[in-house]
Amino acid sequence: MRTQVGIVGAGPAGLLLSHLLAGAGVDSVVLETRSRDYVERRVRAGVLEHPTVELLREVGLADRLDREGMRHEGISLRFDGGDHRIDFADLVGKGITVYGQQEVVKDLIAARLGDGGDLRFEVTDVTLDGLADAPVVGFTGADGRREELQCDVVAGCDGFHGITRDAYDPQMFDRTYPYAWLGILAKAAPTHHELVYANHPHGFALYSMRSPEITRLYLQVPPDTDVNNWSDAQIWDELGTRLAARGFTLNEGPVLEKGVTGMRSFVAEPMRHGRLFLAGDAAHIVPPTGAKGMNLAIADVRVLAEALTTFLRSGDETGIDGYSDTCLRRVWRAEHFSWWMTSMLHVPPESDPFGRRLQLSQLRYTVTSRAAATTLAENYVGLPHGVSP
Ligand code: FAD
Ligand code: DHB
Repeated sequence: MRTQVGIVGAGPAGLLLSHLLAGAGVDSVVLETRSRDYVERRVRAGVLEHPTVELLREVGLADRLDREGMRHEGISLRFDGGDHRIDFADLVGKGITVYGQQEVVKDLIAARLGDGGDLRFEVTDVTLDGLADAPVVGFTGADGRREELQCDVVAGCDGFHGITRDAYDPQMFDRTYPYAWLGILAKAAPTHHELVYANHPHGFALYSMRSPEITRLYLQVPPDTDVNNWSDAQIWDELGTRLAARGFTLNEGPVLEKGVTGMRSFVAEPMRHGRLFLAGDAAHIVPPTGAKGMNLAIADVRVLAEALTTFLRSGDETGIDGYSDTCLRRVWRAEHFSWWMTSMLHVPPESDPFGRRLQLSQLRYTVTSRAAATTLAENYVGLPHGVSP
């Protein structure tokens, strides 16, 4: 079997890349180890940056997003028992959209299949060869047959635990954090219209939502936490404590989903090895506090789709040669922002009164200085694609 671009992984990066390439007349095959049902149900990110939404609109993927997505023009930072709003609309004239990652994935899969795209779910034993000049992706299909995909280039969009990054020896930069997030999805109507990031002496808590009926909530917990050791009642109780503020009530309801997510910062450089190009979580991870992971994956594949299209049409290698450096500039900006938000909002396990005073000072400065609030707002809503400070 032959295709121009072999794409490993059907997360937001792989699926959007396939869609963008199809729009430019470049064909691809997407290989995914999980089932369609699994990737469509996997609850993860919820915040779409302004440039992400603009791109999805530009490429015809925003019908449902525009109908069902929740537009937000600010967030609140909650600390010392008080609420402090960061007004994105006033500070930077833009906002964010709350729309579940699995909804983006559903929309992408529907669009690809509607356009006759080739998506293979439930494949196993994906292997890579010939990455210097003639890549071959081996895999076993859902029917158990071993197949080979000859391609011009391979896109490694298989997430942090994928196999494509192992095909070479990139330089790795990483940082782990002494906490994780316990996240729940609850059938409870949101009582507040925007996200709340709370710094409480017990630890961080985040108030988010998915729809007018569904609340999404997170608690900072120790990294080795077993989710089964937290009863629903304990979770609600702790959320109530950490999110407490005058005039705020938490609406409780049945817990539909719960899980624990580790937190790390990670970058692999460069993001290219011969004819292999990494994109999204395969190349970099951010802690979730800045809501950047999916947005970065989407920014990567926008650059990649353009570079590959030029290369495959004309043989011009300028775009593919610049791919890694171009993406890494945005990646490191997001790494810094995510690390900064994480450090400002989480409570380290060891009591550190000096660090606590620094955190509170930084929080007060962020909410009272227009310059500092603008820095947060500009990064949170997302720097325009193509702008690389
Ligand atoms: P993935 O979504 O991980 O997709 C990779 C795909 O490759 C998967 O489907 C996987 O099954 C498949 N795969 C793996 N190995 C193989 C293989 N060998 N062969 C074939 N396929 C393979 N980001 C935000 O932008 N905003 C947020 O608000 C946000 N909140 C988050 C909250 C949580 C709790 C978590 C866990 C993450 C959050 N993120 C957020 C991060 C975001 O979910 C990821 O950055 C995003 O999924 C990256 O997309 P991706 O396509 O690169 O990788
Ligand atoms: C959500 C996740 C995040 O990581 C974040 O920073 C904000 C919101 C969410 O799942 O809604």
